[in-house]
Amino acid sequence: MYNNKENINIAILGAGTVGGGVYKLIERMQPEMPDKIGASLTVKKVLVRSLAKERPGFDRNVLTDNWQEILNDPDIDIVVELMGGIEPAGTYIVEALKAGKQVVTANKDLLAECDALVLGTAEEYGRDLIFEAAVAGAIPIIRPLRQSMAGNNITEIMGIVNGTTNYILSKMSETGMGYEEALAQATELGYAEADPTADVEGYDAGRKVAIMSSIAFHSRVTFPQVYTEGITKITAEDIRYAKEFGYVIKLLGVARLTDTGIEVKVHPMLIPKNHSLAAVSDAFNAVFLHGDAMDDITLMGRGAGEFPTASAVMGDIIDVCRNIQWGCCGRLSHECYKDISVKSIGECSSKFFLRLIVEDRPGVLANIAAVLGNNGVSIKKVVQNPKDDTSAELVVITDPVCEKNFSDALSVFNGMSVVKKIAGVIRVY
Ligand code: NAP
Ligand code: HSE
Repeated sequence: MYNNKENINIAILGAGTVGGGVYKLIERMQPEMPDKIGASLTVKKVLVRSLAKERPGFDRNVLTDNWQEILNDPDIDIVVELMGGIEPAGTYIVEALKAGKQVVTANKDLLAECDALVLGTAEEYGRDLIFEAAVAGAIPIIRPLRQSMAGNNITEIMGIVNGTTNYILSKMSETGMGYEEALAQATELGYAEADPTADVEGYDAGRKVAIMSSIAFHSRVTFPQVYTEGITKITAEDIRYAKEFGYVIKLLGVARLTDTGIEVKVHPMLIPKNHSLAAVSDAFNAVFLHGDAMDDITLMGRGAGEFPTASAVMGDIIDVCRNIQWGCCGRLSHECYKDISVKSIGECSSKFFLRLIVEDRPGVLANIAAVLGNNGVSIKKVVQNPKDDTSAELVVITDPVCEKNFSDALSVFNGMSVVKKIAGVIRVY
């Protein structure tokens, strides 16, 4: 070994769900560390916002609310950032790298928008900055993309990458639980972000898809380039129709490398109930990948929560410790050496499930079909059910259509008096 350190000191920034899990996991693994990394591992400091808060399980002596105490301590080798958010996390990471510390983080918000800055700093200063936990919790995906699958031209990534929304949709579908109750349970279980809007509006999944795309396609994709649609408009009615037609509804992240650019989006989707992703329930995540040499690979596991996330963080900490001992680092860079454009959602194509509440009188169905036809939308299946004395519910599944054409048809429906409500629009696998 190059360094042969007897002890490696770390500082954890954040004592929340993940910070707490990592702290406990380090305690649990302590006896094995000398054999695993050739050194003991000590948590020297834990940064929190408020020292007044009770922190069961944490040694009070290591808690601090002063970042400078960590930054200026030359004995701290690794900073593990688990606070979340772009600032001050971004500044702390950059300062830590410049001060000679290696960094591990789970911060997808930061990586999906400021990867060039933080990874650039790590490269410039010759440090490690690794982030396996930022995507899909315990599932190894960042490292396999960068290492095991590096011999491929990856052309497709599709997956369930948000545990909170998968938990909510599973509970709504399997038990008939209401949206609010399912969200409260996901929050209680530590799956949801500090602000669960990021989960339910698809932003969290969008950030993860941006990070995976940048690595897989070697071309930078940032979160603002990802089209996102969340699950807040999904109703019990949509779920019932999906079941009737043989589908389940999942929030999917999709990234494709096409001849005309990168398609990258997050939205709910009806997937056939015999599709492998349909069986991924609760807070589980699954990521399907296609590469020219490896063909198809699906990775599945727990995508959120205290220990599953801590598992990925701990793997990164151990990797960094080994790098410290061997005197190397920075082997896992982003390599965005291509510059491929990202397509707008209007340029993509999809099949759609459309639920309309329309006036129940002669000619209405023909009017609706004409609008779809005039906009190049071909109907694959249509079902009509009476809603009340004056209205009917019309459910259409389309063939694949250019998104722009479909949205033009929706604009026409919005202006038609016979269309009382566009009650549901969901893409179909
Ligand atoms: P959390 O439970 O909200 O915990 C955040 C912790 O960071 C809290 O202890 C908080 O201190 C501390 N903190 C926040 N801002 C701070 C600041 N400015 N200065 C000092 N301390 C600060 O969050 P979490 O769920 O553990 O998530 C942490 C990170 O992991 C996020 O980037 C998240 O996206 C990512 N992640 C989470 C999961 C998951 O399942 N939860 C999975 C994968 C990745 P106080 O306690 O004093 O408020
Ligand atoms: N809030 C995220 C989720 C945590 O529900 O998947 C894991 O990244």
